Amino acid sequence: MASIAVYSVKGGVGKTTFAVNLAWCAASVSRRQTLLWDLDAANGSGFLLGVDPKKKRTAQSVFAADRSPTKLIQKTAYPNLHLLPADESIRTLDRQFDRIGKKKRLSKLTDALGKEYDRIIFDCPPVLNEISAQVMRAADIVIVPLPPSPLSARAFDQVVEEVRGSGKGHPPILPVLSMLDMRRTLHKEARAANPKWPAVPLASAVEQCAVMRQPVGAFAPRSPGARAFAQMWTAIERKLASKKK
Ligand SMILES: Nc1ncnc2c1ncn2[C@@H]1O[C@H](COP(=O)(O)OP(=O)(O)O)[C@@H](O)[C@H]1O
Ligand SMILES: [Mg+2]
Repeated sequence: MASIAVYSVKGGVGKTTFAVNLAWCAASVSRRQTLLWDLDAANGSGFLLGVDPKKKRTAQSVFAADRSPTKLIQKTAYPNLHLLPADESIRTLDRQFDRIGKKKRLSKLTDALGKEYDRIIFDCPPVLNEISAQVMRAADIVIVPLPPSPLSARAFDQVVEEVRGSGKGHPPILPVLSMLDMRRTLHKEARAANPKWPAVPLASAVEQCAVMRQPVGAFAPRSPGARAFAQMWTAIERKLASKKK
């Protein structure tokens, strides 16, 4: 099993869009048993996958000692792809982590789920607190979506610091240009400065994910957006494989 976190300290940069589309690639392209684990109270991942929330607000209970996450996992419309949804209860997760005082709670839960899943993808909230610290300890790789702007470059520096702070064996970080629009000078410059980073174009097909409530690969498989996610997924698998050696 390998776990992949999609993380940034900034909101609105494409984390949920990345997480859902990468999870779909893992399940549909690589045919891996995949779990998308939503850690953001907004439950955006569930929405984008067309999975409607249950009435009971139980997401937080996963982190209490006596509860197995498997009971809360939901099937999606896609083979091999399951969802561990978030809900409002997760807003206090930071405090709950503090209270239980177990630095590796998320890590342990993730390892236990490794019996059933090959790939676990975390959709993270834009926070810099005990939740992000737990994610950094649990993840094998951290994907950071970066819309080309000086502000997101700053956010990236903060992520790097957070990941480094998580300890010696911290996970590798893969920055990815997000919402790239090559008609714009600033974006062209950002691309030229980082020619090797994977990139996702600003595209209406990608935006449509929220209207269709489907990953872009499911409804527009030949679109540049779908191809970009497939390429990014390949880069992630390659990085995971080289890490194992
Ligand atoms: N490549 C893209 N092209 C066009 N719109 C995008 C793209 N990536 C994300 N968006 C849109 O940007 C908004 C924020 O994306 P989201 O994934 O929710 O960010 P986050 O999870 O970081 O807050 C959403 O409305 C989403 O549809
Ligand atoms: Mg989000």
